[in-house]
Amino acid sequence: MKIETRAVHAGRHIDPATGAVTSPIHLSTTFERSPEGDYPRGFSYSREDNPNRHALEECLASLEGGNHAICFSSGLAVATALVQGLQPGDHIVAPDDVYWGLRKVIGELFGKSGIETSYVDMTNIDDFHAALRPNTRLVWVETPSNPLMKVTDLTSIAALARLSGPNILTVCDGTFATPVLQQPLDCGIDMVAHSTTKYISGHSDVIGGALIARQENYLFERARKSQRYGGSVPSPFDCWLTLRGIDTLPLRVRAQSENAMQVARFLDQHRAVEKVHYPGLATHPGHKVAARQMSAFGGMLSFQVRGSREAALGVAARCKLFIRATSLGGAHSLVEHRASIEGPATRTPQNLLRLSIGLEHTDDLIADLDQALSTIPA
Ligand SMILES: Cc1ncc(COP(=O)(O)O)c(C=O)c1O
Repeated sequence: MKIETRAVHAGRHIDPATGAVTSPIHLSTTFERSPEGDYPRGFSYSREDNPNRHALEECLASLEGGNHAICFSSGLAVATALVQGLQPGDHIVAPDDVYWGLRKVIGELFGKSGIETSYVDMTNIDDFHAALRPNTRLVWVETPSNPLMKVTDLTSIAALARLSGPNILTVCDGTFATPVLQQPLDCGIDMVAHSTTKYISGHSDVIGGALIARQENYLFERARKSQRYGGSVPSPFDCWLTLRGIDTLPLRVRAQSENAMQVARFLDQHRAVEKVHYPGLATHPGHKVAARQMSAFGGMLSFQVRGSREAALGVAARCKLFIRATSLGGAHSLVEHRASIEGPATRTPQNLLRLSIGLEHTDDLIADLDQALSTIPA
């Protein structure tokens, strides 16, 4: 079935007790055993499994074209679980502009664990190839990337990683693209990671994460143990909210992609804008790859204001409709000065603003940006 249909039906069942069309929220932490001592309905204790989490995992596996999914209490809990599955001496290759939270997980949580990491420009396949080592175990890809919107060729990365050794597993953080626009497992990637906090839940009201695979592998199995025994589980209500959001995921993401395209075109011709980072623009270095591996270019973009950090902060300050807030993927459009949230070690240009394009009318979004940019001197 098509993704719109799976988004509404996968993992959902009419409640046998009441006939309820929308699933109930199962808050119970514990489930009854039979007189023989087993669990005939499949659930024993909510940290191990819960009907709402089970439904969400079934749905996400279906959306990604996978067979297995594990839901976590946040997107970074997915990264933590995967890195935790590695051994001292193992090596990770990750993008040089990876979402800054992954650098914190690797550096601050696992800095003393003996795991080695190389950060490289994954859009350059030669640089990627050169970074692989005999002890490489995990290749982390993020495309499009946060916040520079760099696009990585998933098919080439997956093929090269596979050729380079049987022990290398690949994972793609597909948070910006969602399963609606990009299917990493079809490109040969082993696992897909999501912050479901963003587009998948879609309403800026729940934190969550997910890991999806077509075939189980040892890191996936260890990540499941980290979820169940380590306890980084989402609550039943969080799972229910996320699944409710998924009903409209394909419609939202396509509308946000169309809006973002129009905003990107507007910014691209604006005299106060130095550079627009949006893979939908033909001038973007990753445009051709994005056109091949994505069905639309997504609702995220960033741009550099002509001028300094202060000029960019001034534009954000003058926005009236765009809300100054971090995060992305919800119905409200957001503007964010990434460098100031990422701190002194940031690699993000100081004059860059990131936009998460929401579901408002583009005329209103463009008018807001136009007035916010109007005081930048020509
Ligand atoms: C691309 C990407 N991956 C992962 C995360 C982390 O997700 P969470 O905040 O749900 O832990 C984020 C958060 O902004 C993100 O943008």
